[in-house]
Amino acid sequence: GLYNGAWRPQVHFSPPRNFMNDPNGCFRDDNGTWHLYYQYNPTATVAGNQHWGHATSQDLYTWENQEIAIYATEDSQIFSGSAVIDVNNTSGFFPNQTNGVVAIYTLNTEYEQVQEIAYSYDGGYTFVKYADNPVLALDPSSNQFRDPKVIRYGDSWAMVLAYAQEFVVGIFTSPDLKNWTHASNFSHHGLLGLQYECPNLVQMPVEGSDEAMWVLAISINPGAPLGGSITQYFPGDFNGTHFTPVDGAARIADFGKDNYAGQFFYGLPETEEQVFIAWASNWEYSQQVPTGESEGWRSSMSAPRRTHLANVTRTGWDIVSAPYDLSPIYSSPLAINSSLGNGSILLDYSTLPSRAIYFQVNVSSIPNNTYSKGTLNFTFSSSSTRESVSGGFYFGGDNPFWLSRAKVLGFGETNPFFTDKFSVGNPINANGMFMLEGVMDRSILEVFLDGGRNSATMTFFPLGELDTMEVRAGGLNEHVTVSVAVWGLQSTWQ
Ligand code: FRU
Repeated sequence: GLYNGAWRPQVHFSPPRNFMNDPNGCFRDDNGTWHLYYQYNPTATVAGNQHWGHATSQDLYTWENQEIAIYATEDSQIFSGSAVIDVNNTSGFFPNQTNGVVAIYTLNTEYEQVQEIAYSYDGGYTFVKYADNPVLALDPSSNQFRDPKVIRYGDSWAMVLAYAQEFVVGIFTSPDLKNWTHASNFSHHGLLGLQYECPNLVQMPVEGSDEAMWVLAISINPGAPLGGSITQYFPGDFNGTHFTPVDGAARIADFGKDNYAGQFFYGLPETEEQVFIAWASNWEYSQQVPTGESEGWRSSMSAPRRTHLANVTRTGWDIVSAPYDLSPIYSSPLAINSSLGNGSILLDYSTLPSRAIYFQVNVSSIPNNTYSKGTLNFTFSSSSTRESVSGGFYFGGDNPFWLSRAKVLGFGETNPFFTDKFSVGNPINANGMFMLEGVMDRSILEVFLDGGRNSATMTFFPLGELDTMEVRAGGLNEHVTVSVAVWGLQSTWQ
């Protein structure tokens, strides 16, 4: 089958074949079906000829590939954008239904980028391009004006849109999705890189309160601190026309290098944790990774993440993001050890057909005891080639956590942009506990620290299959307990 390749993620979305980048048009319909569209070149394993591919899911892990939803033409491509459900028929497209879907995207031509809409009578499977497109263009026209993300605000629609090379997020409003009025600009905030792309505006719950608060996310590419692409965000307030950040600081969404252009799903009440999915790659090497030649596909999405805001760290507001409920795809527990102490477990998972794993390590402390020192390390390795992917945490000092793909042969050895190590400072909680979670899926690893206060996405392409896992704790004092749980995950691509 198409999804049998040694590098093919088994619990992540990847396109049936050829090239994928940004998630687009993400929404949850009123039957609870999740719709994911994506930047798709159906004819090559590199970017170009961009369409909107489409897939649907009931659980966000088990995806069903659908027909291409919006087609490019010979001289124009369908770039990134979003989708909404026009329940009240504000657009006039849907006199007889409450589940009409409108997609808002950028049409890219050799000369300009303009914003267009297309509507769907069948809940998002097929679309008709609006006859009076474009709905939004600049005068004079610009070829750096893109990635509309539309949300409902009160009785109106609000859009954030990138003036990519001017480092501006424009905010527009509309009564009907057809006529857009400029309301304000959010410009020159945070990291600029060389372009702003794919802005998102979303309201999400706040930990420990009934409040919901706003977040504006902006992706930048090229020019991220580690090179290439990265996503930053600003917690703040939105009043329908203006976004005001709580402070001047930009936060980084993911401390790896493979999490870009993420999108929040439309259609979730702000009292619920919001759901985020990102392109798990980086423009510095996405078109060169070796899955293209050998398996005929390039790029997967990140795992879906449930997100909320918390104000618990030294730096203030942060998005807390953890994997969306994995229980529908758990298979057997592979290891459960509630008293690892300063010891290790070694696990051979070569017989697990998916070779996809979820793991959780909890390190506890007695009350008021602080960690003076100690380490927690994990390694996924290949019994055939001895390659490995690893990570670890130092208790004490700056509490750094690191991830490494340095001991993987092949692509990473020759591509100068495939940065091989990542790290973050993760101060110990007031309760003295530390939790590490991870989703390992053949060629992608995602880690979540302390329930998701910090997270990272890392891809790698080992020559031998990773089939052995080790978790090791050392140097911790006798009051500390370490528990490890590892579950096999079922392949969702049978
Ligand atoms: C981000 C991006 C968007 C654009 C799309 C084109 O990765 O460059 O700005 O709409 O990809 O595929």
